[in-house]
Amino acid sequence: MKERIDELINILEEANYNYYVLDNPKITDQEYDKYLRELINLEEKYPELKRADSPTVKVGGEVIDKFEKIHHILPMLSLPNVFNEEEISSFIEKIENDGVKPTYVCEQKFDGLSVSLIYKEGKLVSGATRGDGVVGEDITHNVKTIKSIPLKLKKNIDIEVRGEIIMSKATLEKLNKQRKDDGLPLLQNCRNAAAGSARQLDSKVAAQRNLDNFIYHLPNPKDYGLTTHYDSLNFMRDLGFKVSNNCILAKTKEEILDFIESLAKQRPNLPYDIDGVVIKVNELEIQEKLGFTSKYPKWATAYKFPSEEVLTKLKDIIFTVGRTGQITPNAVLEPVIVMGSTISRATLHNEDYVRGLDLKIGDIVAIHKAGDVIPEVIRPIIERRNGTEVEFEMISNCPICDSPLCKKEGLTDYFCLNEACPARKVEGLIHYASRNAMNIDGLGDEIIEDLHNMGFIKSVLDFYKLKNMQEQLIELEGLGTKKINKILESVENSKNSSLEKLLFGLGIPGVGAKNAKILARQYENIEALRYASYEELKEIRDIGDILAKNIVNYFINNKELVDNLINEGINTKYLGEALTYNEFVTGKKFVITGTIEGLSRDEIKEFIEKNNGTVSDSVSKKTDIVIVGANPGSKYQKALDLNIMIYDEEKIKKVMEFE
Ligand code: IVH
Repeated sequence: MKERIDELINILEEANYNYYVLDNPKITDQEYDKYLRELINLEEKYPELKRADSPTVKVGGEVIDKFEKIHHILPMLSLPNVFNEEEISSFIEKIENDGVKPTYVCEQKFDGLSVSLIYKEGKLVSGATRGDGVVGEDITHNVKTIKSIPLKLKKNIDIEVRGEIIMSKATLEKLNKQRKDDGLPLLQNCRNAAAGSARQLDSKVAAQRNLDNFIYHLPNPKDYGLTTHYDSLNFMRDLGFKVSNNCILAKTKEEILDFIESLAKQRPNLPYDIDGVVIKVNELEIQEKLGFTSKYPKWATAYKFPSEEVLTKLKDIIFTVGRTGQITPNAVLEPVIVMGSTISRATLHNEDYVRGLDLKIGDIVAIHKAGDVIPEVIRPIIERRNGTEVEFEMISNCPICDSPLCKKEGLTDYFCLNEACPARKVEGLIHYASRNAMNIDGLGDEIIEDLHNMGFIKSVLDFYKLKNMQEQLIELEGLGTKKINKILESVENSKNSSLEKLLFGLGIPGVGAKNAKILARQYENIEALRYASYEELKEIRDIGDILAKNIVNYFINNKELVDNLINEGINTKYLGEALTYNEFVTGKKFVITGTIEGLSRDEIKEFIEKNNGTVSDSVSKKTDIVIVGANPGSKYQKALDLNIMIYDEEKIKKVMEFE
């Protein structure tokens, strides 16, 4: 009997491989079912002969009550994203300095759930999710049900491979049809559906979901005598894994871009979702030299396709008032799911933006998530207009306090100039309590708005009076003793913040977090700053004429508030390191590119700022010095083009007296 069972297992394994991996069935469905039924019957009759790698596990059956943890032998890293040609160039440049000339494997970026599969002597022993990259969840019972994942390899070797569990578009559609009929909530996209199905406790449910997979990564290629990633892909394919053929070996950026373009065209017609192209250095020796950051390999990156566009209705355009009185139009949208989350609002920035897009209320509009995160209205669909759409009209009065709005010459934004405008007040209070300002924990935007509207907080000073109103506050709906105590405690703690936090929190026009720090470092306490003259302030690098005026005016107009804050016992001193003078740094504008051995970018930045220099991200004519470390980016070339002074590793270390 054992022989027949072995024979049936071989037939069914082979049939699964031909059908699900090679997409090339050799026997009919009826024949397959006949063999499967025979095997199920035999296993029921002779349970002692049932093999762990029997394809009958593919129908599911094992149920678990919780997911066990699996420690990955090597961390499961994710990839840095790039979004355009320039960023691809910079990825290549970083790799190809010093004459390194790799080839690149370009693959589809599958949109599913990443998985690690471990085989011992050719048999599948475990399947785990990525989890936090170090520890994942044991989903072996479900992985075994995925028809395109072999239970047994073509060689009896020990191996770990990694890939993506996916659900095809057709399967999702079918599943959602069924769920609709059953009155169940629909699954939002292939990725969520794959992830949800692979994380079922009952493997029968997972088995019915018809999951699929692609394998794309071999963590220990050298153990198998391989020298390139491309060979790893072939090696894994030969073992029986489903490895996509839709990939190329590219030598140049142009070839990479061509592949991206071709995949973007194929994308709508592919049977599964992809969200980009993964670009990997092919030669393992070069991969090894490039190494890893704490999160990513330096030899691979993921180009993400521009994000998904979705159509919805622009129901209204409403206006909000910011802390500075700035008026922002906002799109109110018919709620719609974009890349897995519901969008019902999007900023429209200002009047010019709305007019530039030619938006009318009632339009069907295309929206997406810019950089995959921020909802954005892209354009109206003019062909869908039916004449009922309403022209956009800019308001002339503040929607909250009704005072006339003002537009400064040459600028695009309208402002409410009424300093007593309740909307501005609330936004100012929210800003004061926010994390980069006084960091009053436990006070969400809504609580602040409620406390303002009920008259508990009229100005920032009132945060510190809340402790005298504990009893009234506890009465309020949704608060209660515990929450109130937490708020009062963080109000007290916030009193110890360093001066720059207070300056930023006060909302002096034009004083952002960066300028607040410059001022706090320069003056060290509020007493010195509040009496600083316009001439003196103007001389400070990065402060300038308008800002100097704003600062002087602020302290004249808010004398009482500042006095009261001081009397309230709020720290008004700068608690960071004092400024020092360094002839190579003070007053200079720096840009850093590449890595300096033994010094992190933050350490260099801190040193420069402490010595009253500034660091910015991009090289321009205004840059004084570019610090160039190993593997510099395109900023180095730009510095050479603009003839900007360069500090190399030796020089910056000397300046910093770093041994
Ligand atoms: S390689 C060390 N290749 O994308 C390199 N990942 O954003 C490991 N992904 O976590 C990953 N398709 O879940 C690689 N062809 C592909 C991929 C791919 C999809 C996923 C994977 C990874 C994420 C990174």
